[in-house]
Amino acid sequence: MKVDILIIGSGIAGMMAAIEAKELGSDVAIVTKKSPMANNSFMAKGGINAALNNMKDGDSIEHHIQDTLKSGVGLAEEEAVRIFCEQAPQIVRELHRKFKVPFTTLPDGRLAQRPFGGTKYKRTCFAADTTGAAIMKTLNKALKDLNITTIKNHFAINLLITDGKIAGVSFLDETVNEVKTIQAKAVIIATGGYAGLYKGYSTNVNDATGDGIAMGLRAGLEGMDMEFIQFHPTGLKGSNFLISEAARAEGGRLINSDGKEFVDELNTRDFVARAILKQILKGKEVFLDLSDIPEDIINTKLIHLKKRVKSLKGIDIGSEPIPINPLAHYTMGGIKTDTYGKTEIEGLFYAGEAGNNGVNGANRLGGNSLSEGAVFGKIAGYKAVKYSHRNNIFPSIKKEDIQKDIDLIEKLKNTKINAKEIKHQLGDILYQKVGILRNGYTLKKALDKINELKKLDINNEDSNITEKLEAINGLDIAKALTKAALSREESRGAHFRMDYPEKDHAFLHHTITKLN
Ligand code: FUM
Repeated sequence: MKVDILIIGSGIAGMMAAIEAKELGSDVAIVTKKSPMANNSFMAKGGINAALNNMKDGDSIEHHIQDTLKSGVGLAEEEAVRIFCEQAPQIVRELHRKFKVPFTTLPDGRLAQRPFGGTKYKRTCFAADTTGAAIMKTLNKALKDLNITTIKNHFAINLLITDGKIAGVSFLDETVNEVKTIQAKAVIIATGGYAGLYKGYSTNVNDATGDGIAMGLRAGLEGMDMEFIQFHPTGLKGSNFLISEAARAEGGRLINSDGKEFVDELNTRDFVARAILKQILKGKEVFLDLSDIPEDIINTKLIHLKKRVKSLKGIDIGSEPIPINPLAHYTMGGIKTDTYGKTEIEGLFYAGEAGNNGVNGANRLGGNSLSEGAVFGKIAGYKAVKYSHRNNIFPSIKKEDIQKDIDLIEKLKNTKINAKEIKHQLGDILYQKVGILRNGYTLKKALDKINELKKLDINNEDSNITEKLEAINGLDIAKALTKAALSREESRGAHFRMDYPEKDHAFLHHTITKLN
């Protein structure tokens, strides 16, 4: 198959890229590991940031820029931040007016906005507490209306590069377990991040294993700031269910088992997650208490939360405190790109959580991820089309590259690997040793254990090929992020080293990771 613009990943960045490229007249295909709705964008709950100032509290684009830079603790790139914050209002209006996302509105029809952490302004637009699902269903409809080719159940294996130019991507077609290739003039990787590697301790869909990033690293691209993992303060204890920041925005309070408040609920996520962990380490339990929130607010703005917590734990959120603990939620690190998603490989772009143009720095502001994915996804779509116009040929795919992937898949078919167990053990190692609080000792121990797992010799049971590929990718990413965490001997944003608890000016730079 041949297509002008090939997009891997069907989250908000991938969909916006696909729509933009198609509307500019290109032939587009979007390929997804499972189905178009099985991703973290769909799972996003609390909202999408844009400085619309609809709540008349004095918010402005400049305030959004300053909050985003502050949250990034010196590592957020101002050019990317400015472009993002300037374009976010326009993109949110486009989602509302052009695509008809059913956002929650004020009586006069303008979008309602709620406060999220890390700012004093009400900047987060929302659709009750299922904002991601509302956006993604709408974009998926747009994809269909535009007749954009959507290919499901295809796992991207490797980037195919000829003479420094992207030529296409190889896939495992999971329906027949065979290698397929798609040739393209330009490729956009929008496969998401790697917080799912914290298996058992993550809000992410199970397969957020950083596959697109691993693919980039294997192709010689650089990872940037891989050590910065955002832990969401409020996961429902004993599950991977995210209790949206919306619950705190609407008035939820964090209390410990003595009934005492111990932190400003709307501080940045790194700060709140550390405060919660410190309570847990003191032997306290931590709860989210929503009993001050009026019933009508719960029934309109937090209705999904109410239903899910009832069905998962039998808890009535209006009257009973909800037990919580922090969970890995988002990864700031990704493949290094320029501000617009362009990589060192000609014709190859990264967008959304898989790429890193520096917009988030050391810690992403809550509510920025959906708007960031939409803004830079659309930009990547535009840039890819422009590139394909300037380079209006399909670079040929080298036969030996395809053969390598066929051999790999054959080998995996014939090798017993208990990938499920590897992923499970990796989750434990990462959460316990490369978690909210780390130190040199825990990080070195983690590296030893990851290297041990990389031998892939847990073979008492077999797994399917997709899981084996995810385990291989996940181990590469885990190694990269642990090494990056080890090299950053300071504490900054979401990276907290107990042995270096202060911020150190000597580390005011990005961490660059290359495979081997
Ligand atoms: O809490 C939340 O609803 C998450 C939002 C985000 O990660 O931006």
